Amino acid sequence: MAEIEVIRGDITALAVDAIVNAANSSLLGGGGVDGAIHRAAGPELLKECAGLAPCPAGEAKLTGGYGLPARYVIHTVGPVWYGGKRNEPELLASCYRNSLVLAEAAGVQSIAFPNISTGVYGYPKDRAAAAAVAAVRETLPRTPGIGRVIFVCFDRENYLLYQELLA
Ligand code: APR
Repeated sequence: MAEIEVIRGDITALAVDAIVNAANSSLLGGGGVDGAIHRAAGPELLKECAGLAPCPAGEAKLTGGYGLPARYVIHTVGPVWYGGKRNEPELLASCYRNSLVLAEAAGVQSIAFPNISTGVYGYPKDRAAAAAVAAVRETLPRTPGIGRVIFVCFDRENYLLYQELLA
């Protein structure tokens, strides 16, 4: 069974096989972790993304990592939070599930996730953390090539939530 861990820090610094980007459907970059990843990867990333857009919410697309220490970037689009009655939990779970399935197909063995949708998209952090951990735990038996999953928390609140869930 894969090792699941939580760390605090900047996902763009991680030398793992794949880091996951909390993108938008245009895949043209943005603020938050999307902006940080594009800044660290460089302009080649945007060029590859342009050819893959659009990416519907819940789905995932794979690109190279370019200037990043990670080999690949998996761009997934989280749901915007509208109160929980617009299929947000299922869409958020799909982001984690589809990213793992895509990573497995690419031979990825180590993958890092940011706290998808909990920034600009306004998803409550406690609900998002619970959905993320459940989706990863439910998918990993079907992606045996993945040996290491890291939840990368940029803020203390997310970090404490994930620590509690993974204790
Ligand atoms: N490393 C890890 N996590 C980060 C980093 C970083 N360098 N920068 C920000 N984060 C965290 C935020 O603190 C938040 O917990 O990533 C999480 C996701 O927040 P956002 O980046 O705002 O992503 P999201 O809420 O999914 O909104 C996506 O924002 O940046 C735009 O283009 C993006 O339109 C899309 C929307």
